[in-house]
Amino acid sequence: MTYQPYQQRYEGMQYNRCGKSGLKLPALSLGLWHNFGGEDTLENGRLLIQKAFDVGITHFDLANNYGPPPGSAEETFGKILQKDFIGYRDEMIISTKAGYNMWPGPYGDWGSRKYLISSLDQSLKRMGLDYVDIFYHHRPDPETPLEETMMALDSIVRQGKALYVGVSNYGTEESNRAISILKALGTPLVINQVAYSMFNRSIEDGLTDLLHDNGVGCMAFVPLAQGLLTNRYLDGIPSDSRAMKSKSFLNKDDVTENVIQKVQKLNAVAQEREQSLAQMALAWVLREGKVTSALIGASKVSQIEENIAALNNLSFSQEELEMIDTILK
Ligand SMILES: NC(=O)c1ccc[n+]([C@@H]2O[C@H](COP(=O)([O-])OP(=O)(O)OC[C@H]3O[C@@H](n4cnc5c(N)ncnc54)[C@H](OP(=O)(O)O)[C@@H]3O)[C@@H](O)[C@H]2O)c1
Repeated sequence: MTYQPYQQRYEGMQYNRCGKSGLKLPALSLGLWHNFGGEDTLENGRLLIQKAFDVGITHFDLANNYGPPPGSAEETFGKILQKDFIGYRDEMIISTKAGYNMWPGPYGDWGSRKYLISSLDQSLKRMGLDYVDIFYHHRPDPETPLEETMMALDSIVRQGKALYVGVSNYGTEESNRAISILKALGTPLVINQVAYSMFNRSIEDGLTDLLHDNGVGCMAFVPLAQGLLTNRYLDGIPSDSRAMKSKSFLNKDDVTENVIQKVQKLNAVAQEREQSLAQMALAWVLREGKVTSALIGASKVSQIEENIAALNNLSFSQEELEMIDTILK
């Protein structure tokens, strides 16, 4: 069936300026880490991207290694773009990354100029694109000089293969250095993509302030703790859930009694707010305006529909925040 995007798609979404750049990002973005690999069905992936676009999600986040197998999420996304989004490229912000192990030998991992530039060329081919909107270095490399990695990002922008550059999983000190090196090169750091959720608050230790003070955006990934911060596991571990299916990142052993007790208490707070737990978890990530966009994943269209409604109530009373802090302690 031919896909026709929903005409009013921009009306319900909030677009936040990414740091001090000209780029605006949707308050919710969609990541393709899971559910778009070679083992997943293309048709479901297509429905997810279509639904996301229809609710105003303009930003789609990939990486060279997303799959499994690595590279297959970019291939799937390329097929979906080809089928449904020809003519809409200029309404989309597409990002990819390199930084984790991608191919054998010394040139397919970490942060060398050799790896970053060849990996992006491969990603562009897999997705059938001339350029990405944001290209990220996926994780800090303790051995390659940061200057080399940042110069590679700068070159990529000058070659027209990416419009903006970002880093991911960079801590406060690494981000600070990346900001100043890129500034000197004339290609500003536009965003840092970091883990942030009610279950992982490490970026509150100064990183968000550094990004904010330097006009750099903040993309919060895994805001639902891979599904733990939703109603997914309240009554056990469903057979189609990530904890049941996934081989390494979230597994049954992570769904402990202690976690579920916290989730139940958080769920009660969410109900008082007339939100689902997923909606409250997303609102909480966005509550202070320091996070540009919460980067969700989804396996079902209904999850995107539920999550987007988080935007109807992003504010918290002091009492609610204190209750949440107490539960999380
Ligand atoms: N830069 C990095 O190093 C890095 C690392 C990790 C992720 N990321 C990015 O962040 C993106 C999001 O990661 P994530 O998928 O782990 O994020 P997440 O939003 O925390 O978890 C998504 C999962 O939660 C469940 N879910 C979502 N909405 C739900 C709802 N309303 N009700 C019930 N369950 C719901 C689904 O799991 P089920 O499959 O069980 O339905 C879904 O696949 C990735 O795709 C990637 O782009 C980046």
